Amino acid sequence: MNNLTRLARAKIPFLVRNRARTFVHGLSAAESQPTADTSPNRLRDFYDGRTTGRGIWKWRHYFDIYDRHLSKFCGTAPTILEIGVYSGGSLEMWRHYFGADCHIIGVDIEDAVRSYESTGVSILIGDQADPAFWRKAIQQLPPIDIVVDDGGHAPHQQIATIEALLPVLKPGGVYICEDVLGDGNKFGLFANCLAAALDATDWLAPGAPDTPSRANGLQALVGSIHRYPFVTVVERNLVPVSKFFAPKSGTEWQPFLEGTHMSARKEQEFGLIYRLVRRVRGF
Ligand SMILES: C[S@@+](CC[C@H](N)C(=O)[O-])C[C@H]1O[C@@H](n2cnc3c(N)ncnc32)[C@H](O)[C@@H]1O
Repeated sequence: MNNLTRLARAKIPFLVRNRARTFVHGLSAAESQPTADTSPNRLRDFYDGRTTGRGIWKWRHYFDIYDRHLSKFCGTAPTILEIGVYSGGSLEMWRHYFGADCHIIGVDIEDAVRSYESTGVSILIGDQADPAFWRKAIQQLPPIDIVVDDGGHAPHQQIATIEALLPVLKPGGVYICEDVLGDGNKFGLFANCLAAALDATDWLAPGAPDTPSRANGLQALVGSIHRYPFVTVVERNLVPVSKFFAPKSGTEWQPFLEGTHMSARKEQEFGLIYRLVRRVRGF
């Protein structure tokens, strides 16, 4: 393989995508159990125990994901907004998990779900794909700790909902979008772009060693984006971030990385041409 082929393989987006696809197709599927219920989980126990009563409809592997991201809210009286009420069982599941003092807001397009309103459970009727619905709703909603989007599952609905609610989520809040189904799913692509924006750099003093990078709007707001089978989780920062720093600690250093910081800054300054020349010349 010559240097240009290597460069193309490493840098041109559609070749990178093909390379990832080839890698995935080369992996063999597991032969073991259908779903790994690995650890004790109060949500899964509640779901498994629901043999009669109001229905709950979740993919089984979601329970470990919920517990990983939401256990910190248990007993803290959080406000959780779930889009998609259907038969009301998931509202009861959240109360069981977070405790009697939590506030649950169920949002659905079907008026019939109003019947699940009760103490600590508010119901809001509207179309999650409609930005005007959210603009009005946000005026009357309390600050929200957790959003679970289990509504219509169409990408345009999921995108309109995250655009409306992620910016108003409380610091430290968690946003969960469920049923992101299918390779090439448009919400999946939207989430990939958000994840790419988390990697963006904006050096404050290009060329200077150890210069900080200024946070963009997303980096200020969002600490992490997690992709799972069919689910995307976005976690908000507790405190807005303005800059990222990478100071060195210690006094003893190997000589072989000297100057590499400068190369990285030059890549930023001169962009593609610098990267091309550097790759082709092999330095
Ligand atoms: C999969 S069910 C929700 C399941 C429920 N969360 C559970 O765990 O049992 C989807 C719900 O989303 C509602 N829905 C569909 N399209 C919607 C939209 N555009 N806006 C709001 N809700 C919608 C449906 O009426 C339905 O009740």
